[in-house]
Amino acid sequence: MAYQQGLYPVLQKENLAKNIFSLTIYCPGIAAEAQPGQFVHLRVPAHILRRPISIAEIDRKQGTIRIIYEIRGEGTKILADLKAGDMADVLGPLGHGYTLLDSDKKCVVVGGGIGVPPLLAVAEHYGANASAIIGFRSAQAAILENDFKKAGVRTVLCTDDGTMGQKGFVTNALEKLLQSETPDLICACGPMVMLRKVTEIAKVHGIACEISLEERMACGVGACLGCACRINRNGKECVLHVCKDGPVFQGEEVVF
Ligand SMILES: Cc1cc2nc3c(=O)[nH]c(=O)nc-3n(C[C@H](O)[C@H](O)[C@H](O)COP(=O)(O)OP(=O)(O)OC[C@H]3O[C@@H](n4cnc5c(N)ncnc54)[C@H](O)[C@@H]3O)c2cc1C
Ligand code: FES
Repeated sequence: MAYQQGLYPVLQKENLAKNIFSLTIYCPGIAAEAQPGQFVHLRVPAHILRRPISIAEIDRKQGTIRIIYEIRGEGTKILADLKAGDMADVLGPLGHGYTLLDSDKKCVVVGGGIGVPPLLAVAEHYGANASAIIGFRSAQAAILENDFKKAGVRTVLCTDDGTMGQKGFVTNALEKLLQSETPDLICACGPMVMLRKVTEIAKVHGIACEISLEERMACGVGACLGCACRINRNGKECVLHVCKDGPVFQGEEVVF
């Protein structure tokens, strides 16, 4: 496995929304290997277990990756103190990312909430051949719309309460979009209920679909059985590791 661990400088920090932060980290070795959908495992000072955070953007030329995270508990609260000039203890890139087709193929990315960031790197690969459907609880939680648009991606923003963009769920917007176009691949990340529905919609339309699962993690490299998930592969149900075999799986393989 081509992952690395080290202390790397934080070049930039941004506050994207309430309790949501973006860090650009200079780690050329990790940036050189990283693929959209993979994640890094961040050490939290004074804590044994690292915290998994998806890679949101990869800039191999600059030797940087960007990560975006929301404060959920103690670990991410401490990580929110990191600022430009600090050193971050990063292990990565880890896991198995999304399939990248040739960039002239058509891809639709569907993200919900803090599941949106890893899809930015996917959409950037396809540029104008990608459509992004991104959904948030409300305007206050909305992030990254301009980043998708800057990459030339047709972007539909949805909010549950209608305070920004279209009112409603991303799955309604996906069904609408599939009435007029047939992408080669759908990539999704977000809450389990959303992933299940996206997988069902893709199946009805006969479109390949990859989804990123979230599971509690300890080692992050397949050594502790801490992140087991049930997958139906080759007609047989088996237990795989979200950290090593995923986090991205074929939607139809996942036992919801
Ligand atoms: C592959 C992957 C990618 C992720 N990418 C992102 C991202 O890009 N942005 C983001 O904001 N969040 C992301 N998460 C979720 C993030 O890892 C959790 O929010 C974070 O670990 C919570 O830690 P905490 O100490 O703040 O919370 P606490 O609840 O205090 O954590 C306690 C323990 O539970 C584990 N834990 C708690 N919740 C989760 C969870 N949902 N998933 C995994 N472990 C958890 C922690 O590692 C820790 O060991 C990702 C999770 C996975 C598995
Ligand atoms: S977190 Fe240890 S096996 Fe996945």
